Amino acid sequence: MEIYSDKQQIALAIDDLKAKKLTIGMVPTMGALHQGHLQLVKKALLDNDKVVVSIFVNPTQFDNKDDLVKYPRTLDSDVELLKTVSKTNILVYAPTVDDIYGGNTVSQKFDFDGLEFEMEGKFRNGHFDGVGTIVKRFFDIVKPHKAYFGEKDFQQLAIIKKLVEKYNIPVKIVGCKIHREANGLAMSSRNTRLKPDYKTAAPFIFETLNSAKEKFGTKSAVKVTEWVEKQFAKHDILELEYFIISDTKTLKPVKRKSNKKTYRAFIAVYADDIRLIDNIALN
Ligand code: PAF
Repeated sequence: MEIYSDKQQIALAIDDLKAKKLTIGMVPTMGALHQGHLQLVKKALLDNDKVVVSIFVNPTQFDNKDDLVKYPRTLDSDVELLKTVSKTNILVYAPTVDDIYGGNTVSQKFDFDGLEFEMEGKFRNGHFDGVGTIVKRFFDIVKPHKAYFGEKDFQQLAIIKKLVEKYNIPVKIVGCKIHREANGLAMSSRNTRLKPDYKTAAPFIFETLNSAKEKFGTKSAVKVTEWVEKQFAKHDILELEYFIISDTKTLKPVKRKSNKKTYRAFIAVYADDIRLIDNIALN
């Protein structure tokens, strides 16, 4: 497997592949790969000749220094896991902070037409400027034909589609379904840091989302939200940060239901110091 840490080197390798008329898919990640990432890589390999998997813990998207420091960094085992999917058609791009930011580790400021102010944007200051900055740089360096992102970060996916539209970046963004553990917990690199009690409790998040979906069939968004808040208020160890039912397109909280629109419920929960997010389509 080819592993690159230098942007010029990977750009040259991709020029070579494109000269041979091969198609390039990209799966941007922050490493600590799990089955959810592998599903994205497998999908990308089905659609493209070669797939670039970037592994980079991007400092500019962390508003919490502690979270950045504790974020798992497991390059060797990530590479081994990728080899189980393909030894020949994956290129790993694992740059240093310097390779990407050249000593100026700051975000570009973006206008994502308001998508950035909802949900995660309210709780993670500057997060989407950091995501926009790194994803735009990756697309400049790798110039993939298609790029794959999971729906677990549904707001991120919407923002990346907006980024591509606003900057006319010639890449097709492919959103992929949330991959879950057998107990329903959405797969996340953060799950490895859950202490046993929290790991046992965490499937409650998806169970509650499923019940909220059922209730949304007959009840208002306000009533469903109150119900969810009550369930977490009663919970021993999980702490709800937000539960919001939003319009799938604008991501704005729903005021009055319309059967012409689609809605999604979004949740963020603290399991001790680990922040978990999830979401579900409601109609
Ligand atoms: O979803 C992630 O892992 C990150 O936000 C991404 C898209 C790789 C950018 O750092």
